[in-house]
Amino acid sequence: MPIHNTSNNDSMGETKIIQRFAEVGYQIHPDAVAMIEEYGAPDELIQNILASLNGSVLVVKPEHIKSRLPQPTYDVKVLSDTAPSTCVGNYEEFVGYFRDRYAKLSEILRGRISARPIESINLMERGREDVTVMGMVSTIRDTSSGHRLMELEDPTGTIPILFPNHKDVFDLSHRIFLDEVIGITGTLTNDGLLIANRIVWPDIPLKKNKQSKPKRNGEACYAVLISDTHVGSKTFLEDAWHQFIKWLNAAIGDDNQKALAKHVKYLIIAGDLVDGIGVYPNQEKELAISDIYEQYRAAATLLREVPPHIKIIISPGNHDAVRQAEPQPPLPKEITSTFPPNTTFVGNPSLVELNGALILIYHGRSLDDLIAALPGASYREPEKAMVEMLKRRHLAPTYGGKTTIIPGGTDHLIIDPVPDVLHCGHIHTVGISKYRGVTLVNSGTWQSQTEFQKSINLEPVPGRASLLDLNTMETSILKFYT
Ligand SMILES: [Fe+2]
Repeated sequence: MPIHNTSNNDSMGETKIIQRFAEVGYQIHPDAVAMIEEYGAPDELIQNILASLNGSVLVVKPEHIKSRLPQPTYDVKVLSDTAPSTCVGNYEEFVGYFRDRYAKLSEILRGRISARPIESINLMERGREDVTVMGMVSTIRDTSSGHRLMELEDPTGTIPILFPNHKDVFDLSHRIFLDEVIGITGTLTNDGLLIANRIVWPDIPLKKNKQSKPKRNGEACYAVLISDTHVGSKTFLEDAWHQFIKWLNAAIGDDNQKALAKHVKYLIIAGDLVDGIGVYPNQEKELAISDIYEQYRAAATLLREVPPHIKIIISPGNHDAVRQAEPQPPLPKEITSTFPPNTTFVGNPSLVELNGALILIYHGRSLDDLIAALPGASYREPEKAMVEMLKRRHLAPTYGGKTTIIPGGTDHLIIDPVPDVLHCGHIHTVGISKYRGVTLVNSGTWQSQTEFQKSINLEPVPGRASLLDLNTMETSILKFYT
């Protein structure tokens, strides 16, 4: 995912800001320094602040400079999105897609391990220890003797890798997915088999994301994250939705809740805005609105009640009227034209910058595949499967399964840059977590249990909205349905 460079090169840096204030006899509080730095510390701004002080304070604090800072605009900056694809799914496109996936993920892995090309391993002296390779997992299976055998492929060749069942790495090997790019360190046998000692995933860095710059201008700023509204379904929870809208308009709740609502600047909907048609067998029996365009018109009517100063961001899901294969483009013009003007339509996945924070929005179709494949994973804890996406730096590590991917030349599902927040939906349960400084939110649904969900034993968590503080990236869950 390409990203514009959002950092400001004109920054004078902390020391210079402190110096400029000291020169005219002021001390400055570190929070105030940080606020000035966030605006790139232009001379004009500093002079303006100094002129406003009039010698009235000794230590310059945030409250002294707040009114002099440029007023935030709360734009939606779309950093990466999905263009309509011209892909036809031929052999060359598949090869190009996997080459791109390998190139990007191996580049990330190179920051963690130093691997040799597989071709050179095959020519190496046998019996060597600590041999490191990296590649894409082309096969993985249990052997008849109870071990696990994998084949790893890089552009130079393939190598068989064994995870012996008496080693710790054996359990971990059950978390390896087909088509993901990983590193292995092990011992080379005389037969050219690599006995694994260690598995390395691309993962995200331990250190804080440098590309994001959440603005701390002293103003509270919230985004509300929801998904899977399923408008048009008989099970759409209209009453709960209206309670939610009332709260957004600061018309219900205690003083604190009303105050929070007044600071909501964004509403993000991570797919399945409507229930769609023909998505699963006998769906028509569960529809209150059987025409897809009518479903979107109803959704547009509901969203017109969101206060117009709140920017609405909508990305599609597998129930929406765009192609099912990912990445999905934004909803088409014939649908979006009926929505209020404060709405931005983005693809699935998409990366947006809100108040300086990077939010990666992905509906989450691959969660079905991840939960099915991961030992101990469950629909009740979507956030645990979302962590696995970050570890793999990929939103849909396994090609195929329930997640269909368009094999264009670029892999749009790679997680790069590392976002501040990963927002998913799809599985209709709520989960919030943090992993290495990244906030993970799965935002539930606005639909009660459907017959189909009953048949697959899926217990949804409806009528919840996740309130994300865009200054701290902390999240809380608001309940509009019990
Ligand atoms: Fe859904």
